[in-house]
Amino acid sequence: MCRSQRFSFGFGFLVGLALILIPTTHAWSKEGHILTCQIAQSLLEEEAAEAVANLLPQHVEGDLSALCTWPDQIRHWYKYRWTSPLHFIDTPDGACDYDYERDCQANGIEGMCVVGAIQNFTTQLLHYQEGTSDRRHNMTEALLFLSHFMGDVHQPMHIGFTSDLGGNTIDLRWFRRKSNLHHVWDRDILLQALKDYYDKDLDSLLEAISGNITHGIWADDVSSWEKCDDLLPCLNQYASESIKIACKWGYKGVNPGDTLADEYYNSRMPIVMKRIAQGGVRLAMILNAVFGDSQEGFAAAT
Ligand SMILES: *[C@@H]1O[C@H](CO)[C@@H](O)[C@H](O)[C@H]1NC(C)=O
Ligand SMILES: *[C@@H]1O[C@H](CO)[C@@H](O)[C@H](O)[C@H]1NC(C)=O
Ligand SMILES: *[C@@H]1O[C@H](CO)[C@@H](O)[C@H](O)[C@H]1NC(C)=O
Ligand SMILES: [Zn+2]
Repeated sequence: MCRSQRFSFGFGFLVGLALILIPTTHAWSKEGHILTCQIAQSLLEEEAAEAVANLLPQHVEGDLSALCTWPDQIRHWYKYRWTSPLHFIDTPDGACDYDYERDCQANGIEGMCVVGAIQNFTTQLLHYQEGTSDRRHNMTEALLFLSHFMGDVHQPMHIGFTSDLGGNTIDLRWFRRKSNLHHVWDRDILLQALKDYYDKDLDSLLEAISGNITHGIWADDVSSWEKCDDLLPCLNQYASESIKIACKWGYKGVNPGDTLADEYYNSRMPIVMKRIAQGGVRLAMILNAVFGDSQEGFAAAT
């Protein structure tokens, strides 16, 4: 949900009301998260696949993607309000870069941002794997938060300027409909593509993205996407990629009141698809490292 709600709505009942009044705004769309998680789950090795299946509640029948939007659904509940700043990073206006020390915090608490959250929940899952899980942490929740935030960190406008709340306050039109710049990247581009090219069928789009990962345009890039020796520097890199894309392709040339249409749509759609693919590949990489043979990957160093 909308980043601005972290200060707009202080009380549960207002939030409930807001959820009814404000339609599906401002989260890397449901569809984006579902795709990221489906791609990731399809790339899991045996141990990770088994651990994920064990952690998921029975009713989703082993489908991680069914719960990948859960962190967006609960972020305004009283119990989970602390998770609200974990979906994004505010960076200095116009700077087009990201710095962990400077930017990954909320209300002065270090690590309260999407990068810190991914690291946090990955560490919790590592302890689960080592059998040292203490009962303070709910490992199912850790898995769902990790899976969701790996999607968010790849949505370019989730690492955005502070004063416009990652484009949320830049009101404009997407073709003929009212929207804002954040929402265009969360949802509008993806839904338009689904409608124009995939008959609104998410499975067809998933197939197209997966095909481009395994033997299409990205096949040669995948090994560099998932290369990671040490988790935090990798996560910092993903966030840096996002703010760079936000500047070069998101904000650039866009002013409040503009109408974004074919030119913007056609040039940005491939970027949205690539970020979804990268999020999925990298989520799988992390889960495989966490749950796999502990001699491999960054898991060994932690
Ligand atoms: C890490 O997770 C725990 C609960 O699981 C939470 O109390 C803490 O605030 C989290 N920190 C970050 C940076 O996400
Ligand atoms: C862990 O969290 C999930 C989702 O919030 C909840 O359904 C489940 O009961 C929790 N498990 C424990 C052991 O508290
Ligand atoms: C997959 O790659 C082809 C080019 O080979 C491209 O036209 C298509 O848009 C890509 N599909 C997705 C979903 O990225
Ligand atoms: Zn989110």
